[in-house]
Amino acid sequence: MTADEAMDAAARALFATSFGTDPAGVWSAPGRVNLIGEHTDYNDGFVLPFAIDRRTHAAARPNGTGRVRVASTFADGIVEVALDDLDTMFPADAARPGAAPNAVPNAARVAQWAAYPLGVAWALRLAAAARTAAGVDLAIASDVPVGAGLSSSAAIEGAVASALNDLWGAGLDPVALAQVGRRAENEAVGAPTGIMDQMASMLGRTDAAIFLDCRTLHADVVDLGFAAAGLEIVVIDTRVSHTHATGGYRDRREACERGAVLMGVPALRDVSVADLARAQTVMDATTFRRVRHVVTENQRVQDAVRTLRSVGPTAIGPLLDASHASMRDDFEISTPELDVAVSAARAAGALGARMTGGGFGGAAIALTPRDRVDHVAAAAASAFEKAGFAAPHVFSVEPSDGARRDA
Ligand code: GLA
Repeated sequence: MTADEAMDAAARALFATSFGTDPAGVWSAPGRVNLIGEHTDYNDGFVLPFAIDRRTHAAARPNGTGRVRVASTFADGIVEVALDDLDTMFPADAARPGAAPNAVPNAARVAQWAAYPLGVAWALRLAAAARTAAGVDLAIASDVPVGAGLSSSAAIEGAVASALNDLWGAGLDPVALAQVGRRAENEAVGAPTGIMDQMASMLGRTDAAIFLDCRTLHADVVDLGFAAAGLEIVVIDTRVSHTHATGGYRDRREACERGAVLMGVPALRDVSVADLARAQTVMDATTFRRVRHVVTENQRVQDAVRTLRSVGPTAIGPLLDASHASMRDDFEISTPELDVAVSAARAAGALGARMTGGGFGGAAIALTPRDRVDHVAAAAASAFEKAGFAAPHVFSVEPSDGARRDA
């Protein structure tokens, strides 16, 4: 049985035990690895993520009531809410004027995991004007690691949005469904994230990355050709869990917005590497370093796409390394564990390595020749032990297809 088949079976079994019947269908959506382009999405910039071969499966069926019922492998029990109550539950207080900046109020009203599927139901009803949407039962099973920076949340959102889109006949396209997922994340969960994760989860393609312009939402497929080049992407999950609803992520976002205002542009996307000399004269040193990360990272994404297309994946290592240095030194979102993971991987033969995702924990990725994969895993494990860190979780991922109906 493949991992995919196992998750499909888990979602079906959970559905049957929770709701006493079989689902009408199963939909799934993947987590993602961001190859390069970190904290550029909410600055209207460029990103280059790919969907991974770890997915969330949502088994679903209309239940003939006005209620949504959700079960998941994240926690025991069924969360049940009337469709009409979703409008009073969301948006989260975090998004309401005058609310405390770090409020994540739904944690108090429903289990935190349930804010994702219920937030999607809320946002999809609004987007599709599907006010007559009927009640539905959902059972969610996932093998996307939670808190690892691999977008387990976008995978839930993508699977549930795809299921409800079909069951409600809403007719939204994949980009609109990504926007529904992002709205759930921003307003129902209260995490002020960009659109990258949801777009990667909806649009992913086998053996390819998605080159996304986050201003226009124009997406180009970029062939990766890792397998043909004898390369693997090794994930080193530090198991230092993170959340983007609070703290550092929000703070970095605010610094970027401040930088854009000081430069007199709508978003940092509009600042080029050549503008950095001026940027340094109009802002404080910390804001400047935040800005410099975003501006140079946007450039690195475009360089990576050019390099992948003209030379191939073996040549992008230095860009991954430079991206990590920029996040460590300028954006200051790395952790000692991520830095150790990156340097151990490189020393063991990776062509390039960087932390991936929002930072403050989560995972690093290492572009690794196939015959060095075991060395990289062993090197990471022993470097973590030497540093006194808990053992990392190391595994390879493959660029995979985005959201789909499985059955
Ligand atoms: C998280 C967010 C994304 C993006 C990344 C950083 O994954 O969900 O929108 O901002 O962090 O690149």
